[in-house]
Amino acid sequence: MIDKWDRKIDYIRISVTDRCNLRCIYCMPEEGVPSLSHKEILTFDEILRLCRCFLKLGIDKVKITGGEPLVRKDVASLIGQMKTQVGMKNVTLTTNGLLLGEHLPDLAAAGLDGVNISLDTLNPSKYEKITRKDALNEVLSAIQDALNYPKLKVKLNCVPVLDTDEEDIIKIAGMAKNSRLGVRFIEMMPIGLGKNYSYYSEEDIIAILKEAYGPLEPVDAVLGNGPAHYYSVSGFEGKIGFISAISHKFCNECNRVRLTSDGYLKTCLQYEHGTDLKEVLRGNKEDSFLEQMIEQTIYEKPVSHNFKGDNPQGTLELDGMSKIGG
Ligand code: GTP
Ligand code: 5AD
Ligand code: SF4
Repeated sequence: MIDKWDRKIDYIRISVTDRCNLRCIYCMPEEGVPSLSHKEILTFDEILRLCRCFLKLGIDKVKITGGEPLVRKDVASLIGQMKTQVGMKNVTLTTNGLLLGEHLPDLAAAGLDGVNISLDTLNPSKYEKITRKDALNEVLSAIQDALNYPKLKVKLNCVPVLDTDEEDIIKIAGMAKNSRLGVRFIEMMPIGLGKNYSYYSEEDIIAILKEAYGPLEPVDAVLGNGPAHYYSVSGFEGKIGFISAISHKFCNECNRVRLTSDGYLKTCLQYEHGTDLKEVLRGNKEDSFLEQMIEQTIYEKPVSHNFKGDNPQGTLELDGMSKIGG
């Protein structure tokens, strides 16, 4: 469907849980945040019913997010139903990788199209400092396992933070050299605890990589669903991508909305704007009513984020990334 600003919206990020098995410093405090209760969370049937409505409105790409989506039981079966029963064209998952290894066979059998794995450093002590858990090896082996499924697109998400240095960036990017892994660098966004950290800009990283690996050539083709743009590097099998919400604002091309695990349809990462669909789902309403609400909500999607703070487009979101779903 088309929003007020003439953008085609065809991608929904669905958070299936606000819980997480890590405590990344830019996302959650060490003690965690109060979790939603079981009855507040949408059931799989409710999510699938909404997916049918989204599909009718032309939204045929889904990203499953969390918190950490794989802490919710049977996510693979939800994905399978999205693909086969609802008919979603593309269903992908963003995960921190801790539980990925054990779920990969089921996820692949369910028809998952791609997986993005969050990994901010290859240095074990820095990894533990950032995530507050000593789990780097599990994540690394899950990445290798995922690459063994030829139909699965596999990418890595790196948000440089704390004492990230040139060596960290060169090593992470180097993972794309001899494998089809896409490596993306994400500028830290001032959402939730992310406000407490500065960001490495795309230009900073390109300069480091150019020195180490030679020039980066922009890739014209659209790869993936989201806001990343990509470069190829001579001698590299995988591409290097950037999600540069601050230095290269991409709101004019935004194609996505979000559904939180408690059923709030959220139209922009930075604002509260949206509609509580859970109330409607649990009332006695027809699908056509739901579809109308979704359509109206998306139509009013804010024109852009305002991370620099000069021209807010609505009430700012107060929830952190683990609740929003990234
Ligand atoms: P693919 O293109 O399918 O790989 O997905 P993606 O890049 O949309 O998904 P992923 O979950 O890996 O998100 C990567 C980063 O992009 C996360 O930090 C998200 O918060 C960020 N992101 C995704 N959509 C938006 C958006 O609309 N606005 C902003 N500012 N950031 C976004
Ligand atoms: N800014 C940018 N990216 C973030 N993520 C979480 N919080 C932020 C933030 N403030 C990333 C995670 C994960 C993805 C879903 O979002 O590292 O890769
Ligand atoms: Fe968990 Fe992702 Fe937040 Fe890290 S960024 S605490 S992995 S939800």
